[in-house]
Amino acid sequence: MEMSGYMPVRLYTGAGCVQAHASELRGLGSKPLVVTGRTSARVSGALKDVVTAVDGPYALFDEIGQNPLLTDCMRAAELAVQEHCDYVIGIGGGSPLDAAKAIAVLAGNPGMTQEVLYSLKWPKKPLPVAAVGTTAGTGSEVTKVAVITVPEGRKKSFHHEDIFPKIALGDPRYTFSLSRDFTASTAIDALAHATESFFSRLANELSQLYALQAVALLMPELKKVLEQEDLTAEDREILYNASIYGGLAINITGTCLPHAMGYLLTEQHGLPHGYACAMFLPEFIRINGAEVPELVQRYFAEIGVSEAEWMDIVNGLLQKIHVEITEEEIEREHGRWINNGSIKKGWGDIAPEACDEILRRISRS
Ligand SMILES: [Fe+2]
Repeated sequence: MEMSGYMPVRLYTGAGCVQAHASELRGLGSKPLVVTGRTSARVSGALKDVVTAVDGPYALFDEIGQNPLLTDCMRAAELAVQEHCDYVIGIGGGSPLDAAKAIAVLAGNPGMTQEVLYSLKWPKKPLPVAAVGTTAGTGSEVTKVAVITVPEGRKKSFHHEDIFPKIALGDPRYTFSLSRDFTASTAIDALAHATESFFSRLANELSQLYALQAVALLMPELKKVLEQEDLTAEDREILYNASIYGGLAINITGTCLPHAMGYLLTEQHGLPHGYACAMFLPEFIRINGAEVPELVQRYFAEIGVSEAEWMDIVNGLLQKIHVEITEEEIEREHGRWINNGSIKKGWGDIAPEACDEILRRISRS
């Protein structure tokens, strides 16, 4: 099997990595715009560490919500321009990190419209971005993808090599303060990334190596989360590293059906992103079992967990999720599954009618 990949991010993980690499962070420019959510960057201690590392003037935009809005990114970019910021530091989980990437493009091109942003025809290069991870799920630290909610209410992604962070800093201690539920939702997002990547038609030897490593690390940890065991510092580090492996995998392949369909459950039913995507994982495994059984066999053999045990863990974590999807909604969203690039990246010819059927199967009150 062939190999291919490109990941130009200077990556450091481990306790104290922000302090240890402060000069590299500062070296990105003279004044950063620091982009965070409303609380996690402060609670985790990451904001304090970043401010200490910057050791000079900075501007702060701390209003990025879950599923970051393009309108907020535009406001943040205006602030960056006003404050003469020349680089962006995102601190957080996927939302602030993806927002930081979009803000870097918008701040580098003042007044840019949504249309031009998504056309990828940017007159000027984005500002440099640094990504400081505070959750173990997204893997956004090492990808060229940003998923932003546009004013029509849809989650819409763009991919561009110029938005790879220049530096990613992942101190697993920042994840210690996360609740069990949040930990589960983000870890299962990482599982979805790795699993979707493994079963992508675009997978290659390198992406599958990353994907299998992510899943092998994640399954025992997900079991501990399901069984409500306390997570140690070592568990937190394993979860963080697994999320990076998942990011490295999707950086090569992108995601498939569970993410494509999961966006709907977040937009319309408010489900956290990880749970929303994972709702489709058991169906995704079943589809692959029919289409590429040898690949499914290899997946379970290499992660050291049987299919039955995998299903027990994933279904156990999803047990409390109830999403009722009406026929009206299924009909309304039908067009979304026609020629859907992410769905087509998976094995099998999944017709839009089959997607309707999947929605009926996962619906439960
Ligand atoms: Fe995701």
